Amino acid sequence: MNDFTFYSPTRFVFGRGVCDRVGTELETAGYRRALLVYGGGSVVRCGTLDRVKASLDASGIGHVELGGVRPNPEIASVREGVVLAREHDVDLILAVGGGSTMDAAKAIAVGAVYDGDVWDFFRKRAVPAARIDTACVVTIPASGSEGSNSCVISNDEEHLKCGLNTDLNRPVISFLDPELTFTLPAYQTAAGVTDMIAHIMERFFSGEPAAHVTDNIACGIIRAVIDAAGRVMDDPQDYDARAALMWAGTLAHNGLAGCGLGVPGTGRDGDWTCHGLEHELSAFDTSITHGAGLAVIFPAWMHYVWREHPERFLAFGSQVFGIEPVDPAVDDLSDIDEEITPERAVRDAVEATIDELQDFFVSLGMPRTLSEFGMSEDDIEHLMPGLAINRGESFGSFKKLTLDDARAIYRSAL
Ligand code: NZQ
Ligand code: ZN
Repeated sequence: MNDFTFYSPTRFVFGRGVCDRVGTELETAGYRRALLVYGGGSVVRCGTLDRVKASLDASGIGHVELGGVRPNPEIASVREGVVLAREHDVDLILAVGGGSTMDAAKAIAVGAVYDGDVWDFFRKRAVPAARIDTACVVTIPASGSEGSNSCVISNDEEHLKCGLNTDLNRPVISFLDPELTFTLPAYQTAAGVTDMIAHIMERFFSGEPAAHVTDNIACGIIRAVIDAAGRVMDDPQDYDARAALMWAGTLAHNGLAGCGLGVPGTGRDGDWTCHGLEHELSAFDTSITHGAGLAVIFPAWMHYVWREHPERFLAFGSQVFGIEPVDPAVDDLSDIDEEITPERAVRDAVEATIDELQDFFVSLGMPRTLSEFGMSEDDIEHLMPGLAINRGESFGSFKKLTLDDARAIYRSAL
């Protein structure tokens, strides 16, 4: 097990109706005036925003609002929020929504106490040194932003989507009320499921040796997510299944699933190539949902790199899907004509694992190919400048990759 620091300072308030407790919890924590940040209107239509505002009013916490944050949030909303936060001298940025809203809130939080333009942080021209505290009312289990140190913002003018990782991004309090997720469209539920599994896999496939406690946590969460996803697709109001997804989404990305798997000397607790490749997709076409992009990219990356550490794929296949390589010493192979060499047995088990994973994503309604987003071979070159800025010429820890490898992975996913 590699050395690690596990830091997850967020207070998670979980359960039915906790969004009505936002005011009392924040008052107890000493907050007086909040900037409420939300998305394109789902929280208005579902009544969640009114419930949160009523709860703040009852506790005497003042509030101003910034709505309209879009999926793959844009820097313009963040800049608007920075102005509002300063103008109204708020002591808390409170996100009510999904990863896009939470990330916009986190960016506002560091931008409001910085003299320059907040985009500097995302282009690595400056490092944030302070923030206004953030809190989240989560409406979709997916990004794990409610407990993560990450924040991802797009800049349409520059055709970029860039991340900022710092512990300043960790929210002080996150409210997780599974009933708020009953209204999610099936596609968003599925994209969220894919994203949380991806957060675990980025860490599992860091290229570092097994860390058995973490591996068991990781694969156990994924098994629970697969089970709950099926139940939610059958019955969107299945509380226990929604609750399982909600907590899994948080644990998948607060650092727990990476303990002992971090890459020495990099500060990274996983490989994160697939996230890098996906972020270029949703920067190129801002209508692409992050989780849907990952559903295409992850299997393509896996086919490309598995030979580097087949043992990690065998462990994953065994623990998540119960797939074991055939063993001529114990299995009846009388139906199989060709000779099963040990190499062939491993390859078959790995390919079966990747196929099982991809079939699961597709069974939820996720795409299998980039062409389902309307992309073609010609589009791939448009992804490369952003990738070079965000990842450099060489990236990845499971297998070191170049920009040409990235091209090949994108091409294989068309
Ligand atoms: O905008 P509204 O109207 O609220 O609708 C949203 C949006 O259209 C809708 N929605 C959310 N909750 C709902 C709901 N509709 C009905 N009922 C509800 N309860 O769902 C759509 C997607 O929302 P979004 O916030 O974009 O989803 P998600 O949580 O998947 O966030 C995606 C963003 O997070 C980033 C992604 O790159 C992407 O920009 N990520 C953030 C991470 C982090 N900060 O740690 C890590 C991730 O890897 C990811 O990169
Ligand atoms: Zn993600």
